[in-house]
Amino acid sequence: MVLNEYQEIYKAWQENPEAFWQGVAAEIDWIVQPETTFDQEMGVYGRWFPDGVCNTCYNCIDRHVDHGRAEQNALIYDSPITGKQQKYSFAELKTEVATLAAVLQDFGLEKGDRALIYMPMIPEAVFAMLACARIGVIHSVVFGGFASKELATRIDDSRPKIILTASCGLEPGKIIEYKPLLDDAVMLAEHKAETILIKQREEQNCELTKPNEYDWQHYIDNAKQENKQADCIALAATDPLYILYTSGTTGVPKGVMRDNGGHMVALKWTMSAIYGVEPGDVFWSASDVGWIVGHSYIVYGPLLHGCTTVLFEGKPIGTPDSGVFWRVIEEHKVNILFTAPTAIRAIRKEDPEGEHFKRYNLEDLRALFLAGERADPDTIKWAESCLNTPVIDHWWQTETSWTIAGNPLGLGLLPVKYGSPTVAMPGFDICILDDNQKEVADGDMGAICIKLPLPPGCFPTLWRNDKRFKESYLNDYPGYYMTADAGYKDSEGYLYIMARTDDIINVAGHRLSTGGMEEVLAEHPDVAECAVVGAADPLKGQLPVGFLVLKAGVGRSHDLIKEEVILRVREKIGPVAAFKQAYIAQRLPKTRSGKILRSTIRKIIDGEAYQVPATIDDPDILHEIASILGK
Ligand code: COA
Ligand code: AMP
Repeated sequence: MVLNEYQEIYKAWQENPEAFWQGVAAEIDWIVQPETTFDQEMGVYGRWFPDGVCNTCYNCIDRHVDHGRAEQNALIYDSPITGKQQKYSFAELKTEVATLAAVLQDFGLEKGDRALIYMPMIPEAVFAMLACARIGVIHSVVFGGFASKELATRIDDSRPKIILTASCGLEPGKIIEYKPLLDDAVMLAEHKAETILIKQREEQNCELTKPNEYDWQHYIDNAKQENKQADCIALAATDPLYILYTSGTTGVPKGVMRDNGGHMVALKWTMSAIYGVEPGDVFWSASDVGWIVGHSYIVYGPLLHGCTTVLFEGKPIGTPDSGVFWRVIEEHKVNILFTAPTAIRAIRKEDPEGEHFKRYNLEDLRALFLAGERADPDTIKWAESCLNTPVIDHWWQTETSWTIAGNPLGLGLLPVKYGSPTVAMPGFDICILDDNQKEVADGDMGAICIKLPLPPGCFPTLWRNDKRFKESYLNDYPGYYMTADAGYKDSEGYLYIMARTDDIINVAGHRLSTGGMEEVLAEHPDVAECAVVGAADPLKGQLPVGFLVLKAGVGRSHDLIKEEVILRVREKIGPVAAFKQAYIAQRLPKTRSGKILRSTIRKIIDGEAYQVPATIDDPDILHEIASILGK
């Protein structure tokens, strides 16, 4: 049988994973070339390139400046919200990043210290990430749509020496002041950062009120005057590059840790093999630097590969219209667009006939990649018909930082099966397991697991928490990483991702914990018990819906209580949770052992058929829930 390029590469990886990754590692500029590819005795399940020495910022910037790309655009900032655009060549990016890195050093930051970055989509956010990488400071970016409680838990877990922030973020029609959110978070957090560096935006300044708050631009201007720039420092490939918190099953997020060496090797490989881009191409990931997609494909992946990356401060609709994506593609000659399906659904809702596509020249665009949530076939087909390019679903997670299953444009596209993100990428041996840890038959649903070790780029552990890492991901299926997604594989190895096996929901491509929301609801003084489930939503994929059982004798207005809990979630978790629906119930359906039947509640909301669970305590409660919902 003649193998296609994907099959050949997958086979080569299967036959000798270490030789495969050693070969790929040659694409990176190392300070000390790794001799050992994988040390299975190191860390929880082994570590990649343990004796390699490198610097991620060097590979993202200096390397290109030194090798003929100094004048090429590295970063294009396009902000339809402010009407501003700014372009930075690799040489200019180097100046900005090296200067900020010198400022960080002046504030006493050293290798291994943490910097928390709470910033909107402005170039300084990218400079900050790269400046940290340059001097071995571990960054932890927190998405701007998270509010003070989320910010505080991240401050306490990562214990940053510095917080890098801005005066405000901009959402369509409104200014989000960051300072009050930050002040609250700083008050809530036990850990106190020594320094807070604030970028004042002209759209809305903020007052620096405390002695440890400093004006970002003032320090940059001074450093530039003195021509202060920091060099890249030598780091072990296994040293952490960043921590990115992601929702777990409780309100305490999990600190996904990323290393330097394996991450570079994997991401660089994906740029050509999966996304089919060459150095010099323009890559646009319409996400936010606060999410994994932003880390991997706004910042690190494109820059490692010598591509131009687009930083977009806007929305798919309303900034100013649903043609903005196509305007950006035409104007900046974007070759690859990567976004979440929800963005395409939002555009389609406003422009069902695709009128806006016709206004722009999209000839540079080669493909649209979708990830972050399930890509429904209808949306894919609509985008295909409007764009006239492949529309490629691919499945991955914050934990992996790159594609677990996809359709590799660079290796030659495989036939598309709508509803499937296609097949396992090299590095990932995907198995569908039953409750007894046995592989199920093709077509049967099970827990999607990946045989250990995970490939380079995936997290070696959670930040300073091997125990939680093992408990959350490794213990249930010994020898495997449990993705917490459920699904099946067909006889040709195509994967279908059907549901989460935990309480994570996906709202507009944003991963959120219903457990975290329940914790906020439960803190309300009138609430005795609660449950939050993710109901299907045609635009955002899922939306959270809360059910509250009030304490006996609470006589206050139910509407008022609902308003209060909605506000609490907004203020504590953030507007991005989109928690806007709460119902008061007399009781919640439970098993006899007291477990709330969340998935049955979800099915009732979604109008799906459900079986009354055999273990239910009182089946009548299901009727009560249905009647509250008017079903
Ligand atoms: N800072 C502050 N607030 C933010 C924010 C940020 N960075 N991002 C979102 N919010 C707020 C919004 O203003 C909104 O507030 P509201 O309740 O006052 O209206 C709320 O959080 C929900 O935002 P969002 O999820 O963006 O919903 P929306 O209704 O404003 O827009 C879409 C819907 C589909 C256009 C939008 O979700 C979108 O662009 N999605 C793309 C998905 C994406 O980029 N995913 C990243 C992973 S790939
Ligand atoms: P995040 O860590 O925020 O990237 O979210 C990862 C989760 O989003 C996965 O575990 C899936 O549940 C979901 N997800 C991401 N991409 C896809 C996809 N292409 N198809 C289905 N689900 C996806």
